[in-house]
Amino acid sequence: MTSTRTSIHGQWSSRWVFILAATGSAVGLGNIWRFPYLTGENGGGAFVLVYLFCVVMMGIPIMMAEILLGRRGRKNPINTMHTLAIEEGLSPNWRLLGWLGVIAGFIILSYYSVIAGWTIAFIFKTGMGDFVGSNADQTTAIFSELISNPKILLFWHTFFMFLTIYIVSRGVKSGLEQAVKFLMPALFILLLVMVGYAMSTERFLDGLKYLFVPDFSVLANKNLFSDVFLPALGQAFFSLSIGMGAIMIYGSYLSKDSSITFNSFVIALADTGVAILAGIAIFPIVFTYGLEPSGGPGLIFVSLPIAFGQMPLGTFFGCLFFILLMFAAWTSSISLLEPAVTWMVENRKMTRYRAAYIAGFIAWLLGLLTVLSFNHWAFKFSFAGKTYENGLFDIFDVLTANIMLPLGGVLIAIFTSWLMSRSSTIDELGLSDSIAYKIWRFIIRYVAPLGVVVIFFNAIGLFS
Ligand code: PFF
Repeated sequence: MTSTRTSIHGQWSSRWVFILAATGSAVGLGNIWRFPYLTGENGGGAFVLVYLFCVVMMGIPIMMAEILLGRRGRKNPINTMHTLAIEEGLSPNWRLLGWLGVIAGFIILSYYSVIAGWTIAFIFKTGMGDFVGSNADQTTAIFSELISNPKILLFWHTFFMFLTIYIVSRGVKSGLEQAVKFLMPALFILLLVMVGYAMSTERFLDGLKYLFVPDFSVLANKNLFSDVFLPALGQAFFSLSIGMGAIMIYGSYLSKDSSITFNSFVIALADTGVAILAGIAIFPIVFTYGLEPSGGPGLIFVSLPIAFGQMPLGTFFGCLFFILLMFAAWTSSISLLEPAVTWMVENRKMTRYRAAYIAGFIAWLLGLLTVLSFNHWAFKFSFAGKTYENGLFDIFDVLTANIMLPLGGVLIAIFTSWLMSRSSTIDELGLSDSIAYKIWRFIIRYVAPLGVVVIFFNAIGLFS
């Protein structure tokens, strides 16, 4: 039965706007900041390979499922799950899946905003020529000085959270369409410029090899599941913005005649492309200037500035790069806040404006814990056989990316493929009962949930 619901929050003005908005959500700090540092920490090429596998076998099918649910329910993720569960004769408790997403969104946004703040600080640092002619020790010192100063981190975190609240309070559509149309392509082009610079460095080929040729000897004293598979899986979910309702809410504004399959492939391709380009731009610099690939969350902030300090027009390109990265983070952060805000508007009858400020304030408060994680409250901890350095920030990151998003994704997969009627999903995907539909259904029924479960339980050592 075809659903004829409409969203009270409006609809994207065209399919391309949806693709842009969802790509805007997907492409962000996850691609340019998180992907390279995780690759460097977790074994280079082997990590990239597993990551690509996770994108194809779990990421894209689950993204299709999530958009499907969003468009069919046309409400915030909590109400969408509630409505669809009742419609399919299932327990209304499925709304808890929506809650899981909203909470994950808050936690991610809280630290995302702090890291986006680093980006803004770097706009000024590069713009003022702080990195001209600097070497790895100098850029490392500048970065360390930044993160050891909670007041500055707090200032930029507050500023960035305001930007996020501002767009969400105006309605994602009017605020967002303009931003993504120009800024995403500009970021892409600038990344190509950076790749161009990386090609001119001595160790370009080593960088490429590191990314694309799995070196299994690096993995000798690592646990494959906890050091490679689980972080790669988490990164696939994080980067594609799936498993927490962000893509679901964007799907709820999508028109009925737009192809979910096509859209999902385009978004995943753009997202993966940007991550790989970022890797190609960064690792040759890392090797040429003697940095450690496993340098952690500061990797892009200590490596790229060296390039900006050396290349012609580096101050200009550097400044522009961090501006565009800030915009990429911005178009992602709004999708983290949107599910909670739509819930408050629909269920608490608040104005969008008020809801955006209240929800944003809560995320901002939580973000204070991340601000302190890099200085006063830094501590180490271990989870699933890995040691983390940056206290609560790492806890939030691991909890959301490696646990909550995959869990949300598995539940989405189970709901759409085992519990929803076949006819509902055929109707919504618009694939009829074709071979494409059968492949999707097979993957989402068996491969994706089993893949996530096997990786997760192996990583936490349950099967060993
Ligand atoms: N995908 C974003 C990035 O790669 O930066 C982060 C993100 C946005 C994660 C929205 C999850 C989400 F729901």
